[in-house]
Amino acid sequence: MLVGFEHADDAGVFKLSEQTALIQTVDFFTPMVDDPYLFGQIAAANALSDVYAMGGEPLTAMNIVCFPECLDVSVLQAIIRGGLAKIEEAGAVLVGGHTVDDQEPKYGLSVTGVIDPGKVVSNRGAKVGDLLYMTKPLGTGIVTTAIKGEMASEELIDLTVHSMSQLNKTARDVMMEVGVNAATDITGFGLLGHAMEMAAASQVQIELWAGKLPLLNGVEDLAVMGLIPAGAYANRDHLQGRVEVTGGVDRTRLDLMYSPETSGGLLMAVDPERSPELERVARNKAVGLTLIGQVKKAGSGHIRVARGE
Ligand code: CO
Ligand code: CO
Repeated sequence: MLVGFEHADDAGVFKLSEQTALIQTVDFFTPMVDDPYLFGQIAAANALSDVYAMGGEPLTAMNIVCFPECLDVSVLQAIIRGGLAKIEEAGAVLVGGHTVDDQEPKYGLSVTGVIDPGKVVSNRGAKVGDLLYMTKPLGTGIVTTAIKGEMASEELIDLTVHSMSQLNKTARDVMMEVGVNAATDITGFGLLGHAMEMAAASQVQIELWAGKLPLLNGVEDLAVMGLIPAGAYANRDHLQGRVEVTGGVDRTRLDLMYSPETSGGLLMAVDPERSPELERVARNKAVGLTLIGQVKKAGSGHIRVARGE
């Protein structure tokens, strides 16, 4: 076992031979958009992401489905078609699955991937001085909350759905071509939760720059209106005592940093000497990449949020 569950990493990694390690992960959830095909795409992209966050290549996927008997089966077919489209885009194959009757629909995948055991990117390798980058804008949790309250514009919904259904495959390519010290993907625990897991696993203290964060265009207006998902408060409570906020940090930004993300981007810690190359390769491959902070010193998993402007 190369990576188990002791450091809250994205996936389990099990060494099969000197050349090959298995990456295994499972993820499923309830719909956050009305369109079943788009929901299938988003859930699959989210599940595949944990393999990419370890630097790996997805090979096979299995559907995990909860579906109410009273709903039309065409809805289920659309969800599964959406998922399959993303599995195929990832170059993986669907090998089966399981469906149970349940009040509320849920969908996701169990994914198996492979990686060279010497190239596994875990969340525990961040070093003092490393620069931190993220690859997708924040705010999906706030937008999906606004969708439920019918407060989100069509334009913002389109932008958000596009971001959530986008695979982290090319971001993984950039990361593996250049080489990074640690990575994870930003999902349910929000930017601060996943950054804290990286800081704790790496035994460092991380500083994040609130003013530098990439945000979905228009999401700040929704956050100001108080459209904050309940998960943001749960994440904040969970991180109590581990996050230090310095003066002048905008309250809305902080809410965005605590908010759960669906199928978010990768968070990478890279040696500052390699950062110009990381930026160059990301530009060439059209991967959005934003510098959002730095590993400041050894520690036990604390985050300092600074204004960064
Ligand atoms: Co993850
Ligand atoms: Co996950």
